[in-house]
Amino acid sequence: MKNKKRILSGVQPTGELHLGNWLGAIRNWVTLQEQYETFLCVVDLHAITAEHNPKELTQNTLSTAALYIACGIDPNICSIFVQSHIPAHSELCWILNCMTPINWMERMIQFKEKSIQQGNNVSIGLFNYPILMAADILLYDADYVPVGEDQKQHLELARDIAQQRINAKFSKEKDILKIPQPIIMKSGSKIMSLIDGSRKMSKSDPNEGSRINLLDTPEIISKKIKRAKSDSYIGLEFNNPERPESRNLLMIYSILSGKEISQCEKEFSETGWGTFKKLITEQLIESLSPIQEKYKVLINDPHQLNNILIEGKEKADNLAKKTLKRVKSKLGFFEMGK
Ligand code: TYM
Repeated sequence: MKNKKRILSGVQPTGELHLGNWLGAIRNWVTLQEQYETFLCVVDLHAITAEHNPKELTQNTLSTAALYIACGIDPNICSIFVQSHIPAHSELCWILNCMTPINWMERMIQFKEKSIQQGNNVSIGLFNYPILMAADILLYDADYVPVGEDQKQHLELARDIAQQRINAKFSKEKDILKIPQPIIMKSGSKIMSLIDGSRKMSKSDPNEGSRINLLDTPEIISKKIKRAKSDSYIGLEFNNPERPESRNLLMIYSILSGKEISQCEKEFSETGWGTFKKLITEQLIESLSPIQEKYKVLINDPHQLNNILIEGKEKADNLAKKTLKRVKSKLGFFEMGK
């Protein structure tokens, strides 16, 4: 265990987890978990950056942890924990807030997009949320952070804060914070909306029909795929820039079926949308049903889930405390008992 490099990642417990979260991130964690020491966080403090419902937050936090395991994360080898259970996240976030220039934050694309959706209700929390994300990562000396494409800019920010605003300023010798690297999969790192192939599939899209949630029933999946945007061409194509919906659904089909994109393109080169939609619906139901079955068992055993989160918290807390102490000491905070 000692020599293994470490990964850290997380999902926000906002609404239900969808196909993009699974194919772009969680699936990646599952393939990496044996090779790396793995810390997986349910980032509940991030979930209050938009208006939230307290009951749903509790439920979604448990449900997100259960889905990590249902998707194949092994709690015997990974530490699964809830962000708000570790106070060091908020404390390091404050320190990093004070080190980060505002103009770095003003470049964040996701803030610009989300703040348009939230209108006049945009909170300071939404603005500096990437700094909390940097704290999440840097606290654990993570070597790698497996995420979808949309988090790349946040990862770059975390690297810049650690390197330029902490290591370079406060230590001449050994680095105080480890500089993390993103791991972004070649396929599935940007799953698009079902109703607009040029937009990312997202939890915050008000249109439920834009995404497949991991817990959608076969009837709902079938309805959403039937209504998914198609085009007037016959046959599915991957590289035609005028056909983003075809590209997206082929990508999803290829990952779920385990067939190469080129093989899928050949297979469906003359298939009409109606037939293809039936096939992808069957594939989605087949791929999601084992996850849903495992999820049902887990969510009905809150005692076991709670124990997993307690164990994860203990391991995470130990590491986080050490990093925070190191940072505070280097920044000159007075230590009791000195
Ligand atoms: P979140 O909760 O929006 O998404 C969780 C993970 O899913 C990926 N993802 C996607 N991948 C492919 N296609 C999509 N349509 C799609 N939508 C989402 C995201 O890239 C992400 O990997 N800020 C993060 C959560 C976070 C975090 C962290 C991640 C907080 N602290 C520390 C890693 C490390 C977020 O909002 O992800």
